[in-house]
Amino acid sequence: MKICVIGSGYVGLVSGACFADLGNNVICVDKNVNKISNLKNGVIPIYEPGLEELIQRNVKQKRLKFSTNISNSIIKSDIIFICVGTPTKIKSNEANLKYIFQVVKDLKKNLNKYKIIVTKSTVPVTTGDKIQKLLTTKTNKKLFDVVSNPEFLREGEAIRDFMFPDRVVVGTNSKKANDVLKNLYSPIIKKKGRYFNTSRRAAEVIKYAANGFLATKITFINEMSNLCEKLNVDVTDVSLGIGTDERIGARFLRAGPGYGGSCFPKDTRALISTSKKFKTDLSIVKSTINSNENRYKYLLTKINEILNNNLKNKKITFLGVTFKAGTDDMRDSASLKLIPYLIKKGAKVSYYEPTGIKKDFDKKKVVYFNNIKDACKNSDLLIIHTEWNEFKQLNFNRLINKKKFKIYDLRNLYSPKKMKNKNINYFSIGR
Ligand code: UDX
Ligand code: UDX
Repeated sequence: MKICVIGSGYVGLVSGACFADLGNNVICVDKNVNKISNLKNGVIPIYEPGLEELIQRNVKQKRLKFSTNISNSIIKSDIIFICVGTPTKIKSNEANLKYIFQVVKDLKKNLNKYKIIVTKSTVPVTTGDKIQKLLTTKTNKKLFDVVSNPEFLREGEAIRDFMFPDRVVVGTNSKKANDVLKNLYSPIIKKKGRYFNTSRRAAEVIKYAANGFLATKITFINEMSNLCEKLNVDVTDVSLGIGTDERIGARFLRAGPGYGGSCFPKDTRALISTSKKFKTDLSIVKSTINSNENRYKYLLTKINEILNNNLKNKKITFLGVTFKAGTDDMRDSASLKLIPYLIKKGAKVSYYEPTGIKKDFDKKKVVYFNNIKDACKNSDLLIIHTEWNEFKQLNFNRLINKKKFKIYDLRNLYSPKKMKNKNINYFSIGR
């Protein structure tokens, strides 16, 4: 099929490349001229394992193209996926739909034949209704259907999550559109996962409910980990003990520094703003947001305890600063709250980050190292911030070559018992 993906970000690029790999002709569109010219020269703008090779293969097979010409791309395509950003409006916590409505304007001008318009970006419930209303004129009613097809892609695992989904959710009451999308996804559904057709609004709710629930599940285990520390219980035992109950499920029960990224924080806030609009109180999601937003304060209290409330001139090294391993994305990463505080308290902060230096930190105040050894040298405190494989088997004594140093493992990568046997002053989460 002829597909146009509008918005070549984390979601649009992965979706476009995967659709091309399934044998479709895909044009990935973006308004960012640099991004498109880089993509045309084989330079991938984001860190996503496997994406570069997937794009190269499909560009070579002429199934995948890039363009800044949105009108031309729409005219040539039968299915249009909207994957532009839906950032949170600072004051109202609402999702900012200005980019979505910009795309709708371009669509309206280019409905040269029947098209299926799909919102893959996470959009507030009822956005599909608004798009349909904006597009409809007296004469073009049969020229399009607006469908909701939310994505459930985790950064760092996005290609796997696309190709092996637990389910594909397609929200439309149009038989014609549903048949086309069922056909489009059939190569994936054959292998694994379910194709689930529902109403457009239900599909929009499913996306928010999924992220709201996952964010709540993570926050639940994070709060349990605080209690476990007081009870001298290992939270990873609790995760295992409850996760083996199929009604609960073992995934997303890893206690850590709190959830970040471009989705959970944004989508939980957007869900609350929708609930306010429809006069319904979602008290659980509200407390999830509040608990997660304050988690960094708990971590800072621990860091102060670990360093006996004396941070001045202490050398603190972060291993990883992104919101999780497997990505270069800094959006809502815990480090963005932890590091400025430590600097303010006079600590000397440095970091090693597998995806490279981050512009979020002042280079003069927060020193970046391109290797673990130099970053860790002479540290008083080593904070393991993300769960990259290269952080999982470090010889701390050799690395830090300092008599007294401490480890604060925010991802529970190491065993407290083994650390104790090595006489390493080791702290972690919920243990
Ligand atoms: C986006 C939304 O942020 C997320 O809520 C949704 O679940 C999926 O789509 P992401 O791909 O991470 O996620 O967005 P982002 O990385 O911000 O990329 C959006 C892309 O759209 C950017 O490349 C931007 O340049 C492009 N864009 C934005 C357009 O091409 N046109 C526009 O009008 C606006
Ligand atoms: C999430 C959803 O998983 C995905 O379905 C949706 O489409 C987009 O948002 P993503 O934000 O990329 O994906 O990453 P994810 O792996 O879900 O982690 C989100 C945050 O939760 C990260 O900060 C991660 O460190 C944290 N997390 C995740 C935990 O703290 N513990 C866990 O057990 C799992």
